[in-house]
Amino acid sequence: MNRSRAKNKLALFLIATALVVLAIYLVFAFDRRLRELLSFQMGGLGSKADTIVNVLQLLFLGILAYLVVRAFNALVFGIVFRFRRGFEAPTLVRNIFSILAFTALFFLIFTWIFPTVNLGALFTTSAIFGVILGLALQDTLGNFFAGISLQADRPFQVGDVITVGAHRHSGVVEGITWRAIKIRTFSNHVVLISNSTAAKEPIEVSPRNNLNARLVFFNTLFTDSPAKTIHVVREAVREADNVSQKITPVVRIRNLGESSVEYEVKYWPDDYAKHHDTDALVRQRIWYAFRRAKLNFAYPTRTLLVERRPKPGERDGDGGAIVERLAAVDIFAPLSTEETAMLAQAATSHVFAPDETVIRAGDPGSSMFVVHNGRVSVQVSENGRLRTVAILSEGAFFGEMALFTGEPRTASVVALEETEVLEIGHAAMKRVFDTNPDLVESLSHIIAERRQGLAANQNLSPADEDESAGLLSAIKRFFGLN
Ligand code: CMP
Repeated sequence: MNRSRAKNKLALFLIATALVVLAIYLVFAFDRRLRELLSFQMGGLGSKADTIVNVLQLLFLGILAYLVVRAFNALVFGIVFRFRRGFEAPTLVRNIFSILAFTALFFLIFTWIFPTVNLGALFTTSAIFGVILGLALQDTLGNFFAGISLQADRPFQVGDVITVGAHRHSGVVEGITWRAIKIRTFSNHVVLISNSTAAKEPIEVSPRNNLNARLVFFNTLFTDSPAKTIHVVREAVREADNVSQKITPVVRIRNLGESSVEYEVKYWPDDYAKHHDTDALVRQRIWYAFRRAKLNFAYPTRTLLVERRPKPGERDGDGGAIVERLAAVDIFAPLSTEETAMLAQAATSHVFAPDETVIRAGDPGSSMFVVHNGRVSVQVSENGRLRTVAILSEGAFFGEMALFTGEPRTASVVALEETEVLEIGHAAMKRVFDTNPDLVESLSHIIAERRQGLAANQNLSPADEDESAGLLSAIKRFFGLN
């Protein structure tokens, strides 16, 4: 309330009190005169005139009692409580106090003016009065008691965001009176929800001092990588204003939809009352992050697949990059350009998500892999625990042991991030060996060295010559080479 309004109220209060005190003074000072005058006017009906004067006195004293209770209420709750204890008493408590104080005062005044009338009996014995009161006050009393139970239960407080009932009225709680809950909606309207309605409906409470989560939805084309999308969006959202630094936002795939991969980002706003603005900001950040990372929002699409079969010897898509990658792998360095191109033609590319297993220890295997993009870790299980033997990045190869010896996979290989590998099968390698017999020797050295790395007690002695020679003949035998 602003100051001028408070001043006006005080002035009005003082004028009303002065008028009522004057009226009371007049009806009591001229009590006898008034009664005589009235009874004379009514042709000697003294008892009726008495009743009228008594009612007048009751009325003015009642108004004075009301003003006194209001003043007392303002003084005790508004001033003393706030200064002494540093908090404001809820409106409902103030109202209950006013009603009780006024009823007590009114009762006293009534019994003083009408000593012969038994007010208690009047209330308890009058059936009609009871029915009237019951019907008239049904809703009011319902609200009143629901309000009391809300105050006692305190499921939410002023400042919390609540959503009530089937109409999903949502807003910040501004107050709870004896009749209704007052909320300010996010379009700055005030909605009053009667206490009895609120008592019957489910209420969703987002307390002010609690980290309440929000979900914002978006989507991408099926061709966009989920690992990249999740990383990009998480980083874009965590920096946004009002997104809590206490919990990192979570980005998840909700659904593989008809025309898009559907995602949700879950974040925790510091101030929940501002979540609409923050949701909007989060969407904006996602848009810009998508722009920078060359990710694409999806819209309803029909995919028309036009297939052009590659001519013999031609590789579709990023064939050039694959040739380049294979040429850079050290064991393939001795190959001619044509041989590398042939190997690239035979290689198949696969993409793995972070933490996905590319090959599993113990499985049979008849192909090897070159890391095209990303990183993998080579892991062996020792006494039920995983040990990382090596981390291989772009240009490194793995899976050669099982391919060249025919034995099961000696270790598991797991993608550490989104990783693309090129798989080369037995037939392609045999063709390479036929024209480059020296390759087998350099490979047998590498395999012998890697075997050492796999051994549990890692003594770092160089690879055994005998072991290399044994491997060499095993590989030759396996590939049917001389
Ligand atoms: P393979 O046995 O077919 O399957 C598991 C692969 O892990 C194995 O071939 C090697 O390519 C790779 N590997 C095993 N030990 C090592 C190591 N010490 N360093 C690097 N790679 C390894």
